[in-house]
Amino acid sequence: MAAVTRTPLIAGNWKMNLDHLQSIAFVQKLSWTLSDARHDFGDVEVAVFPPFTDLRSVQTLVNGDDLPVRFGGQDVSAHDEGAYTGEISGAFLAALDCRYVIVGHSERRQYHGESDEDIAAKVSAAHRHGLVPVVCVGETAEDLEQHGPSAVPVAQLRVALGGARKGSEVVVAYEPVWAIGSGQAATSEQAQQVCQALRAVVAEVLGDEAAAATRILYGGSVKAANIAGFMREADIDGALVGGASLQLEEFASIARYQKHVGT
Ligand code: 13P
Repeated sequence: MAAVTRTPLIAGNWKMNLDHLQSIAFVQKLSWTLSDARHDFGDVEVAVFPPFTDLRSVQTLVNGDDLPVRFGGQDVSAHDEGAYTGEISGAFLAALDCRYVIVGHSERRQYHGESDEDIAAKVSAAHRHGLVPVVCVGETAEDLEQHGPSAVPVAQLRVALGGARKGSEVVVAYEPVWAIGSGQAATSEQAQQVCQALRAVVAEVLGDEAAAATRILYGGSVKAANIAGFMREADIDGALVGGASLQLEEFASIARYQKHVGT
């Protein structure tokens, strides 16, 4: 595979936490903390995924103060407009300067019955509107027991990428369901094994060049104490952080993992 450098991405999925006022305070403090620590955002990209109702506030702050933090939505409708009560169009996210959108998070799959086909349609919607989908895949504890770690996420990604437009960027997030919110992260070796298999799926569906350029994140109980181990792996290009992304110092420390690689 061609040698390319992939800019690591440390992303915070806030889930249903922090209202629009809290989001402003958080993003402001996060930027100050990282800037004070001379964080190079070109070297390690930092993004947050606040609730929809926060996005306008975050956009106004980021654009107004020219902050280097990126942001995106936690979900997107497969439809562009119309009679879909409660859904959010990719056009609206793009109009708020979102760069990214999470699709297929396991909580959407589990609580909202989203299928791999639904997620493929959302990937397609994201690309129609110039958004980069962060496609989440991952196995449950039962899947792990029955099929091992790679089979289910590989199958999920193959279908989801069916919605991708060739030449448009995707980010993949491997999030084992059993590791989410459990305090029990995967080992970096196991995560690497699955991320390598996921990169092969990107190659199969979108080609070798896309596979070499695509960032694959690990998610599930990531914290400052374990991030460096994941980032040492060849096929892990960042993290999708849940709980720890709501703790300012902890999240800033995760973004600065290069300072504690080797510790
Ligand atoms: P935790 O970091 O809280 O385990 O959540 C991971 C996650 O679901 C991020 O999308």
